[in-house]
Amino acid sequence: MSPGMTTPPLPQQPVPVPDNALGDNPVVTECHTISYCEGYHLDLGGISAVVLNGYDAVKECLVHQSDIFADRPSLPLFKNKYGRGWTEHRKLAVNTFRIFGYGQRSFEHKISEESLFFLDAIDTYKGRPFDLKHLITNAVSNITNLIIFGERFTYEDTEFQHMIEIFSENVELAASASVFLYNAFPWIGILPFGKHQQLFKNAAEVYEFLHELIERVSENRKPQSPRHFVDAYLDEMDCNGNDPESTYSRENLIFSVGELIIAGTETTTNVLRWAVLFMALYPNIQGQVQKEIDLVIGPNKMPTLEEKSKMPYTEAVLHEVLRFCNIVPLGIFHATSKDTVVRGYTIPGGTTVITNLYSVHFDEKYWSNPEVFFPERFLDSNGQFVKKDAFIPFSLGRRHCLGEQLARMEMFLFFTSLLQRFHLHFPHGVVPELKPKLGMTLQPQPYLICAERR
Ligand code: HEM
Repeated sequence: MSPGMTTPPLPQQPVPVPDNALGDNPVVTECHTISYCEGYHLDLGGISAVVLNGYDAVKECLVHQSDIFADRPSLPLFKNKYGRGWTEHRKLAVNTFRIFGYGQRSFEHKISEESLFFLDAIDTYKGRPFDLKHLITNAVSNITNLIIFGERFTYEDTEFQHMIEIFSENVELAASASVFLYNAFPWIGILPFGKHQQLFKNAAEVYEFLHELIERVSENRKPQSPRHFVDAYLDEMDCNGNDPESTYSRENLIFSVGELIIAGTETTTNVLRWAVLFMALYPNIQGQVQKEIDLVIGPNKMPTLEEKSKMPYTEAVLHEVLRFCNIVPLGIFHATSKDTVVRGYTIPGGTTVITNLYSVHFDEKYWSNPEVFFPERFLDSNGQFVKKDAFIPFSLGRRHCLGEQLARMEMFLFFTSLLQRFHLHFPHGVVPELKPKLGMTLQPQPYLICAERR
């Protein structure tokens, strides 16, 4: 997800037309309903799109027809140059994340080390109110930075922070009306005003920053002895140098690095920000998690992944935050690679497909009282954690989130170490606005929190 570099904006809320508007076995070409509850078709200013609603429809397309639904739409906002080369880029990212990240036992210690920096930075506020966003963003992005660049950035590094700030501003801008219009009518790009211009300006600045950073971290590189993702990518470029079909290039390296940084930071950061907010909102749930931490880990030892399976309640809370808060409510847009039929409706090749993950997590066929925040829905009668089919915050199929394992490690280790050391509450008990801030991701409105040593 890198706006201005990869991802399309959110559509405006669509208005479905009645069932069977198209008659038998219709071709979806205009603004019509596929089926009132499972999906509908939208005409986004000339861009033909289908919205998939509910678990059954999403699964049918992303799992049962995964090859056909694995493309991304080629919208003007997509500066993605690797197009069909996405498979080789994805494979490289998955391998590198395993080799330099979650596949290494020692990587867990690196996350724990970062947690300590994070907790110590929180301690400097001595229980006074502050906005946690900045520290969480830094801590979380450092985990991806270790894999991509082989180094972390200090919380005082204003240049890196500025880059992340304008990058995530683009995630918000990508859902704005003028950027949305730009995708439908690219000539709008020549207008000197409008949010699309801010988005381009930010994207150019991020590009320049990443370009210089990549140059610096690849100095002294020894070919075929990669130290991090950038080295591994340059090795691939060397190997494919004579292949005119190869999509590995300097430009796509910058693009890939940008995508990995923002996809890993914006999402995991927002999950943790929501988790903190809900812990302060529901002190009894916070207390239950802390009870489990004290029992399984104790007050002083750093949490480890080994303890995860012994902490069903904490797992249930994190899962409920992911379900309830819908960090990436519409996933990342997909596109069909050829004509296909879904539930009797023909969807032409090249149609943009919007996976409404929000609707899956509130699908009443799979969740009772979905509008209630209730971690216990992930526990059986013995208090053991149970998986749920319709829990798909990382999406499904061939394009599902490639950072899922890493995100799960980070969420558990940061969350448990935070609640092990601190009690969280709102200043003067004042509950902040709970309505999410809209963008390609759903994040909480800025809020203040007090973190007092337990
Ligand atoms: C809780 C945290 C996260 C959530 C909820 C999340 C969710 C998602 C979702 C819904 C998608 C779209 C999948 C689709 O198109 O069907 C996605 C894609 C992606 N995610 Fe994540 N993600 C998280 C963390 C991460 C992390 C830590 C990384 C890597 C550092 C990452 C890297 C990516 C990438 C590169 C893609 C695009 C994959 C592709 O196009 O093939 N994500 N993520």
